[in-house]
Amino acid sequence: MHANITGWGKCLPPAVLSNQDLTTFLDTSDEWISSRSGIKERRISHVSTASLGVLASKRALAAAGLQAGEIDLLILCTACPDTLIPNAASFVQKEIGADNAAVFDLNAACTGFVYGLSVATAMIKTGVMKKALVVGADRIPCFIDYSMRDVAVLFGDGAGAVVLEASEEECGLLAEKLGCDGEARDVLAARDSGTVRERFAGIDGYFDVNFEGQEIFKRAVKGMGSAVSSVLEQRQLKAEDIDLLIPHQANIRIIETLMKRLGTPADKVVVNIEKYGNTSAATVPIALCEALEQGRIKPGDTLLTAAFGAGLTWGAGIIKWGDRVTPLQECNEALPPCEKTALELLQPWIDGCKAAAAAKTA
Ligand code: ACO
Repeated sequence: MHANITGWGKCLPPAVLSNQDLTTFLDTSDEWISSRSGIKERRISHVSTASLGVLASKRALAAAGLQAGEIDLLILCTACPDTLIPNAASFVQKEIGADNAAVFDLNAACTGFVYGLSVATAMIKTGVMKKALVVGADRIPCFIDYSMRDVAVLFGDGAGAVVLEASEEECGLLAEKLGCDGEARDVLAARDSGTVRERFAGIDGYFDVNFEGQEIFKRAVKGMGSAVSSVLEQRQLKAEDIDLLIPHQANIRIIETLMKRLGTPADKVVVNIEKYGNTSAATVPIALCEALEQGRIKPGDTLLTAAFGAGLTWGAGIIKWGDRVTPLQECNEALPPCEKTALELLQPWIDGCKAAAAAKTA
């Protein structure tokens, strides 16, 4: 038994935060951000993480031609759940009406979707589940310290989702390699974001963020590189057998390093980082959706995906596409209108971070 990907959908909130917007409160420039990261703009959400996931899920279900009640497993891959108790996935379940599904959140940060795809595929392969919805949704900008110019420019909000269905055809995720470099867990951390946080101390709503960009960069290249070698070996494939590479979108230079290592030409790589920045667990499913929308995936294609994220988690997978590359149905729903600009949405956080930084130095 295999787990074919039969539906896909994405949800990007409408408010666009440009590099120019960032220069209004940070000592940075469009030139620096574009050349060092490849990012030109990113989206800032006016709705919750799970609400982004809801719309991506509805679109994925429509593409698969399924009703939500037919889904028996729903995994929300996120590092930014709106609530820890209850899990954020239960909100998605309620809103889409997936009443017959087992439902949980999975936190592997930016690698979350690759982990989620692996878990759902394994459960379908063993016959425990038949139809699964795997959603990647994140709002890392909620955790960002807007006084740190190296972090503040990199992230955006978004969601993507896929539907998996049991199939006798050899397709879906055929090989994966997942891992975590826990030794380096502190190089990317919202340090007081859980129960470790002192309950009645500090400035409300402020996270102490640690971010060692160059260390993350080095370890990302190493982790993704070894995961990619492993999955290619498992399937006895060479890099040139890959029809499309769908990498995590954290930094264009990390993507280029991976391409160089594999010898993959640019026309075989999905890159959308310039439009959305790093949307964490949502990057891979969003990129997958865009590749399908642009006709870049053909029936039977062999796809390679690779990601890394806080933890530092890493992973890669080989996906054999099935025979359908167009949606069965369209979902016409949209997010509620957004009345504010991206900068207006961010303003309370920018002010809060400024106040916290001032309190620290006082
Ligand atoms: N604008 C202008 N200058 C900046 C900015 C900015 N936004 N940010 C940093 N600089 C300056 C630094 O202060 C430094 O100045 P100095 O030389 O005077 O000290 C200079 O630019 C170079 O800084 P570096 O850190 O060496 O820049 P680098 O080329 O390494 O790029 C970056 C930094 C973009 C953060 C890079 O290291 C990176 O992308 N790392 C990986 C990050 C990543 O992948 N994060 C995703 C994590 S996934 C998850 O799970 C959430």
